[in-house]
Order: sequence, then C-alpha cells, then structure tokens
Amino acid sequence: MAENSDFDKRITRHSKSTGSGSPDVWGIYEPDTGSIQYICADPETKKAALIDVVQDFDPKSFELSTDAMDHLLDFVKEKGLTVDRILDTHPHADHVMASALLKKRTGARNGIGEKVKDIADLWRDLYHLPDAFDVERDFDDLFADKDTFKVGNLDLRVMLSTGHTMGSITYVCGDAAFVHDTFMQPDSGTARADFPGGSTEELWNTLQAILDLPEETRLFIGHDYGSDTRDTPEWEATVATHKTENIHLKDGQTKEGYISLRDEKDKTLDLPDRMLAALQLNLRAGQLPQAESDGHHYLKLPVNKF
Ligand SMILES: [Fe+2]
Repeated sequence: MAENSDFDKRITRHSKSTGSGSPDVWGIYEPDTGSIQYICADPETKKAALIDVVQDFDPKSFELSTDAMDHLLDFVKEKGLTVDRILDTHPHADHVMASALLKKRTGARNGIGEKVKDIADLWRDLYHLPDAFDVERDFDDLFADKDTFKVGNLDLRVMLSTGHTMGSITYVCGDAAFVHDTFMQPDSGTARADFPGGSTEELWNTLQAILDLPEETRLFIGHDYGSDTRDTPEWEATVATHKTENIHLKDGQTKEGYISLRDEKDKTLDLPDRMLAALQLNLRAGQLPQAESDGHHYLKLPVNKF
C-alpha cells in the first residue's frame, strides 16, 4: 500500500436506492479499526437504521470516546434522516460498539442476533465472570433467523450467518445486504473464522447462502484493510462480482479447498489488539461494567488463556 493511502482517513460514500423497497446506503469508513459503519435509509419516509456503529477505543491509553458516533449522528441530521433502529451484526472483537449510547442519544430500539446469548455464555467462562452480561437487558431485540421488521417502508430480513462468530447475522433490505464479517472485498477474500466459537465450515455455508441472494444484491462488508492493488477503502460489491472475482471463492472453489485455505491463513493472524477489552463492552451493548467504589470502571484480562 502506498504511503499516502486513504486508509488513514474517514471516508463517506453513498450507494443510491435503485427504486421502491431499495435503501439509500451510506458507508462511513473508520480508519482506526478499518471498520465500515452503515446508514440504511428509506428514501420515502427518511427513516434509517444504523448498522455496526463504532465507539472509539484507544488500546494504548484505554480511552473511550464518541468521535465516530458523533460524526455519524451529525451526518444523519444533515441528511434529514430519523434514526429508527440501531443494529449490530455480531459482538465485534476488533472495535467497541456504540449501540447502548446510540439508544440513549436517539431513543431508537437496539438489536443484535439472539445467539449473542450463547456468545455471552462462552465469554463469561473465558473471562471467569460468572455473573456478567445480561443481553436481554441491554438489547431490545434479539433477532432469530428469518425475522422481519420494517424501517419506514423498507422491509428488513435477518439471515443467521455464523462462522466468524457463533451468532453473526446479516440484514437483508431489498437489493442490499449488510453481511459484515463474512465476505471481505473480492480482492481480499473472506473474514477470519478463528475467534472463540468461530467455525470455518459454518462460514463456508454462510458464504454460500449469501451467494444465493439475487445476483444484483449489493453486499456491504464490515472491514477493509486494503490490498496490493488499491489505496482507497472499498466496501460494496454485488453477489455477481463476488461469484466471479472473490479470491477465496472463484474458479470453482470447493468446501474442502476453502476450509484449508481459510484455516492456513487464520494461523498467521494475530488476535485483534482490542479484542479482550472490546468483547467485555460489546456483550453489554458497548457499555462499561458498573463503576467500582472509587467511581472508576475496570475491565478483566485473562492471562495465558489465548
Ligand atoms: Fe467481527
């Protein structure tokens, strides 16, 4: 990647509604974690869902701030949109979610997949925090596979999309699908499947299910870390493009071939530097544990456990 790449800038791009039932989508790229946050808006009623919004967390200073979220909410206001839903695709390991804060700020319902309950069970053990995490309290909606709901006149549908985590979901809205950590851009392949509770085989099944969506479906991914051939982040490609160009899937890739390629790649990846802090917040919808008697919040870090 060139020195003056766009990967250190916050970038916003608009993907236009293609007609009735199709959302206007804005992606806002957050450079600290290479995450893309989405605004999925109904052009008719101006109601919008916010998807996978980031809360800034500096892993060196352990400081949390709301710069990314504030910027996104200003943008929503500027476009004359009303926030109707706050959605996350999964409890992220690489960044802290803004779900609970957004709910306080906008009054909208927040939601995530129902299998977040199983993910909370897993991490309660890993952190040895037997009483931590009450996902039914911290999220208004725990979506099951095939659940549907409306944002203005738009219809949204939930697709269980496990593999990267044991509870990831995709939100399908007309000709758009928010697939988060399943696909990467076609030149980067697919997301990792080696976090606790992850499964390469399940990720393969999920990828195939997403590829069964109509060919023109716009897939919006969760992260872009670039490739050898481009210096600007990208996050949108159609199902048809992924079928022919995705480097992990094209040319008649088989399930066995994919699993060995993915597993080999995952062996070379470090765990995200924010992971052990982020999950402790994200299983509380992005909130810190209660303050202790000195008024400060503390996190617990397992040693030699990973
Ligand atoms: Fe993730």
